[in-house]
Amino acid sequence: MQDLSRFAFSEQGPWTVDPDAMPWRRDVDALRAASQAQVPDWVRRRALPPVLRFVTAGLRVGGALLAWRFTGRRAGGETSRADLSRRLRRAFERLGPSYIKLGQIVSSGQGLFPEELVAEFRQLRDRVPPEPFEKVRRVIEEDLGRPLGEVFASIEPEPLASASIAQVHPAVLRSGEPVVVKVQRPQVASLVRRDLAAMAWIAPWLVGRIPVAALANPPALVELFAETIAEELDFRLEAQNMLDIALLLRDAGQTIVVVPRPHPELVTRRVLVMERLAGFHYDDIEGMKAAGIDTETMVRSLMISFLEGAMIYGVFHGDLHGGNLSVLPDGRVALYDFGMTGRMDEPQRLAFLRMMMTGAVNDVRGQLAAFRDLGALPPDADLDELMRVLKVDQPVRDPTRMSSEELVGEIQDVIKGLLRHGARLPKHLMLYVKNMLFFDGSIARFAPDVNLFGEVAKIYGYFAQKHGARIAREIGFDPGRAQLDLEGMKKSMGLENDVDVLTHRELQARRQAIRARLEEAGPRLRKGA
Ligand SMILES: Nc1ncnc2c1ncn2[C@@H]1O[C@H](COP(=O)(O)OP(=O)(O)OP(=O)(O)O)[C@@H](O)[C@H]1O
Ligand SMILES: [Mg+2]
Repeated sequence: MQDLSRFAFSEQGPWTVDPDAMPWRRDVDALRAASQAQVPDWVRRRALPPVLRFVTAGLRVGGALLAWRFTGRRAGGETSRADLSRRLRRAFERLGPSYIKLGQIVSSGQGLFPEELVAEFRQLRDRVPPEPFEKVRRVIEEDLGRPLGEVFASIEPEPLASASIAQVHPAVLRSGEPVVVKVQRPQVASLVRRDLAAMAWIAPWLVGRIPVAALANPPALVELFAETIAEELDFRLEAQNMLDIALLLRDAGQTIVVVPRPHPELVTRRVLVMERLAGFHYDDIEGMKAAGIDTETMVRSLMISFLEGAMIYGVFHGDLHGGNLSVLPDGRVALYDFGMTGRMDEPQRLAFLRMMMTGAVNDVRGQLAAFRDLGALPPDADLDELMRVLKVDQPVRDPTRMSSEELVGEIQDVIKGLLRHGARLPKHLMLYVKNMLFFDGSIARFAPDVNLFGEVAKIYGYFAQKHGARIAREIGFDPGRAQLDLEGMKKSMGLENDVDVLTHRELQARRQAIRARLEEAGPRLRKGA
């Protein structure tokens, strides 16, 4: 197809994309600006707390806990955890989009959150109870300004999938092309605004009361959430994001990812008609294995394409989770859902690039400077003093071999030190961290026995070879000449120098050991501190 030379689309599409001939694109920049202009009002802290929303959330989650306490908990162990997880999942579904999104993040955290919770929350990725079809029909007809039958030869009332913002119905156009129709849930905008009011109220309160929470930077989290969701609520922006990402993937010569083609005309604020791409569900490892798909390569290539988007283009899919992609029979990945697309301006991208490169060669000072430029530290942060806070000059000890008191002491020292220097997670890193959580879970599932050091070396090698000259020009650091510092990486994790292999399974065991140690210290800590 003609558009294939410019965009990372499928070989056989239902139509060709010519961006200049897409009427919905006409005002897309102005729409993007307008959607962002609403954000300050959405996150303005009101004089009075939004009591009703707090009460609803409290009742739903509290109700789930209470019901569990008198039923599932009796069974103990796994059954009890599964029962609680199921009740929480239902409470989150009822609470709506903001909570569903939070649940999706939890569902990516295999190995980080309890197994039963992760398993249950997987449903929140693409199996949320859908809206009745009558409501869906109304949204489509209002937005397209025509009765359903004038546009579609047929449309399935049963959605293919449904998630936080939207549900997706298979359909056939009057002109014969098979498509899917993404339709926005009618209540979503007002629910989100109410949640944002509640979040904006509680975020500064958290910072004042729980010191560690300040590191996670709740007010910026709320702002990021508002910015991204404002964009997600207008599907014309999402369709433009699809074009932008498909364009950069092709420019980078990436073959791993395929983007669905948005329809030339049928794109409105709440309706997005696009090419249907079907593959293996991300949870269907057995299916992929049976089809002979090399899942290790798939995960690595996907990670490279994401990093390349962020480091080289400053644009990336900001919402990677198992519902937002499927794996095609040939091992390529169909990406969906471009509502949340990360965009860094040039100074931010360069700082991000420096953060990654200095990290690879274990240049801690350079990395701190990059963090500072990304907004993680104040502009006048004393980097040398921070190096001392982080004990960079001292030999790192293996955290799995520390006593729980020592471990807790170390962690508290570092956290206090970072807070004293005004450290906080900046917005652009939040989406990055969220995506890395997805990759962490993916490696746990698809490649638990791969040597992570080898993977890091391969990824570094890719960037050195393909983008070395450009990176050298842009940040004055040539990855082709420098050496990836695996020894430094091991050291910073407290690993012995003679450890040459670290698999994700081993990493999980280390995390488990550290967590157990922290839990052990928990009650004493609360008493002592
Ligand atoms: N082009 C497509 N072809 C096939 N399936 C699709 C397509 N687009 C979306 N889907 C399916 O529909 C589901 C819901 O769509 P989408 O993820 O865009 O909705 P959402 O509400 O924005 O999701 P989220 O809660 O992740 O923000 C996806 O998880 C995917 O399974
Ligand atoms: Mg989705």
